[in-house]
Amino acid sequence: MDHYFTNNQKLKSNINVLNKNIRGKEYLFYTDNGVFSKSALDFGTKLLIEALPFEKMQGTVLDMGCGYGPIGLSIKNETTCEVDMVDINLRALHLAKMNAKKNKLDVNIFESDAYTNIRHKYNYIITNPPIRAGKKKVYEILRGANNYLNENGELWFVLRKDQGAKTTVRDIGDIYTVKTIVKDKGYFVFCATKRGKSVDIA
Ligand SMILES: C[S@@+](CC[C@H](N)C(=O)[O-])C[C@H]1O[C@@H](n2cnc3c(N)ncnc32)[C@H](O)[C@@H]1O
Repeated sequence: MDHYFTNNQKLKSNINVLNKNIRGKEYLFYTDNGVFSKSALDFGTKLLIEALPFEKMQGTVLDMGCGYGPIGLSIKNETTCEVDMVDINLRALHLAKMNAKKNKLDVNIFESDAYTNIRHKYNYIITNPPIRAGKKKVYEILRGANNYLNENGELWFVLRKDQGAKTTVRDIGDIYTVKTIVKDKGYFVFCATKRGKSVDIA
């Protein structure tokens, strides 16, 4: 079965335009078939963006599983951060590039299966993780962030209660201290900071 996270070149393109106000700023996003949340900005994504501490954010940011780009692009628009955005879905990457251009935002967008093509560490890793890709991949993304965050770096993510939010937080508690930032309509936004030493990726 094809899900939004696969690269299905045969899936007919049908570009959709979303005009969205996020934290008081207007954006135009192109979306398409085969990409997560084509018809609307996802509730969890919006909750996550609204919870982010834009006022204090500095340095480097990785938007892991960027889709058509709402997280990374709004961060770039509202902060001085250098933003990398990655996804495994080539159509999503194409849209994210179109959206960066359309909204005049200078970000780095490239393909990566989780951290495969990531070469340095970040101050922030932000993700609405790909639940449909399976628990193994979600854990690879959440636990793997530990090796790609600077010592005081923060991993921000959103999960639904019925997607095992509490179990996931418990399961990553050996390497992170996890704080619940917001809860709304069964969605939780979490901020995780490192507990111990991570491996050197250089
Ligand atoms: C829940 S969607 C979030 C998309 C976007 N950040 C948003 O909030 O609208 C998860 C994203 O992760 C991507 N993804 C799935 N598997 C991945 C992997 N192994 N590595 C990187 N990204 C992946 C999907 O293609 C999808 O765009």
